[in-house]
Amino acid sequence: MKRSTPLKAKSSAEDYEEQGVSISRKRQRTKPTTSESNEKNKAHIPDEKSIKKIRQELKDRLSERVIPAKLIGLEDEYATLYDILNRTVSMGESNSCLILGGAGTGKTTIVRKAIKELTSLHGDNFFCIDLSGFIQTNDRLALQEISRQLSLQPQLEGQIFHSFADSLIYILNLLKSGNKDTSKPIIFILDEFDLFTQHNKQALLYNLFDVSQDNQAPVAIIGMTRRLDALFLLEKRVKSRFSHRQIHLYSAENFKTFTEIAKNFLRLDNDIEEVDSIYRQHFNERVEELFEETSFSRTVRHIFDSSKGIRGFINLCFGPIARLSAVKPFLLSSDFAEYLIQKQINAKIEIIKGITELELCLLVAIQHINLQQTPTFNFCMVYEEYKNFMNDLAVKGKSMRMRKWDAALKSFEHLVLMELVIPVEGAMKSRKEYRMMRVLLEPNEIFEAVSSHKDCPLVLKNWSQSSRL
Ligand SMILES: Nc1ncnc2c1ncn2[C@@H]1O[C@H](COP(=O)(O)OP(=O)(O)OP(=O)(O)O)[C@@H](O)[C@H]1O
Ligand SMILES: [Mg+2]
Repeated sequence: MKRSTPLKAKSSAEDYEEQGVSISRKRQRTKPTTSESNEKNKAHIPDEKSIKKIRQELKDRLSERVIPAKLIGLEDEYATLYDILNRTVSMGESNSCLILGGAGTGKTTIVRKAIKELTSLHGDNFFCIDLSGFIQTNDRLALQEISRQLSLQPQLEGQIFHSFADSLIYILNLLKSGNKDTSKPIIFILDEFDLFTQHNKQALLYNLFDVSQDNQAPVAIIGMTRRLDALFLLEKRVKSRFSHRQIHLYSAENFKTFTEIAKNFLRLDNDIEEVDSIYRQHFNERVEELFEETSFSRTVRHIFDSSKGIRGFINLCFGPIARLSAVKPFLLSSDFAEYLIQKQINAKIEIIKGITELELCLLVAIQHINLQQTPTFNFCMVYEEYKNFMNDLAVKGKSMRMRKWDAALKSFEHLVLMELVIPVEGAMKSRKEYRMMRVLLEPNEIFEAVSSHKDCPLVLKNWSQSSRL
């Protein structure tokens, strides 16, 4: 008897989640420790100023204005980058390096962290120039930005430049005029590096790499890009001046690391000023507990399985962080669940809301085909399933208008256009009726879409429901 109670609680909790009902009650059932800690948390009432401060800190992280204190799994890459930059700042050595990696793999984070650490050690004994290929779309804009950030405008005011090349040469000569001992080191950070390679004759890159190779003025040129083939975008004469140092960053290799990065994103550091320390401690404890909750950890797992990108998790945090207030001083898994349901699942259902009755029928036919352990299908199979359903209806004396092959094929093509159904690899070679496809909706999502569709006949709802039994 003692064993049956927790087992029952677990299965009903799973059903509960499947039905998309509020997860907060589930948390209370499956995780008694949460209520204990809530009691503990309630005992200490945080002041509004601390809550505001923490909300602001997390919002700044969301908008990537500040970086979390810890780097997870990037220690070696960070050490390599720090070494390159430190050699420029402390020993006047010039260098260049490319940081390559997908979106959200930590390129900007390691660079920002290294600059922060160097600034705390060397103060303003070096310059840091930030450029972005998205903003400085040509070399003239890039040069203006360099002179603005170096505060060179006063020197440039009296000068008359007849061409872009003249002004570039003037600024570069200013850079080159010093030597290793007298010049202030400059770190150039080129975000979206690949876009700089599209500039006319790659003049800026050529000249920057040239300065770094000359080793006259101490400069470090750090390019960041998602394009793994960035090196091949460089012209030969530019490439030959580049040091060929590359740092590769990868997405979290397993779920444990992914969870650690996500947790680290929400965890508060001790160096946040003017925050009630007991509240901060409780907040961090609550974050730990959040990741132990089954429903929350399933959501994180879903993000990891579908994209492996930490940005998916970060996007999920916007709603819950914005809602932190005196009445809700901690992050709750129910907030995340609600936000996820609103944000992701509804997005697909919104698309389906506008589709026709015939298209809905085809989706349910696909749902039935998938149920027979057949993940891929073609139009012929879907139409056959649809026809069988219609014949069954006729036998039972219920009616729904049976549509002809051509009309159904048109509707099927519309599903493909909306990318609810996509061709499998190599399928494009065959005729459209025989092209093998797969659906991008879960059976549950099809059911939800059918049940929430305003024109959906009852018989179709029942047909969709029957495939879930
Ligand atoms: N290994 C990690 N450790 C800690 N935080 C990380 C790690 N990887 C990513 N992050 C977090 O993910 C967020 C996105 O990382 P970042 O901005 O550095 O990505 P990126 O590689 O520059 O992406 P993009 O190519 O889109 O610019 C950052 O706010 C950072 O906090
Ligand atoms: Mg970046």
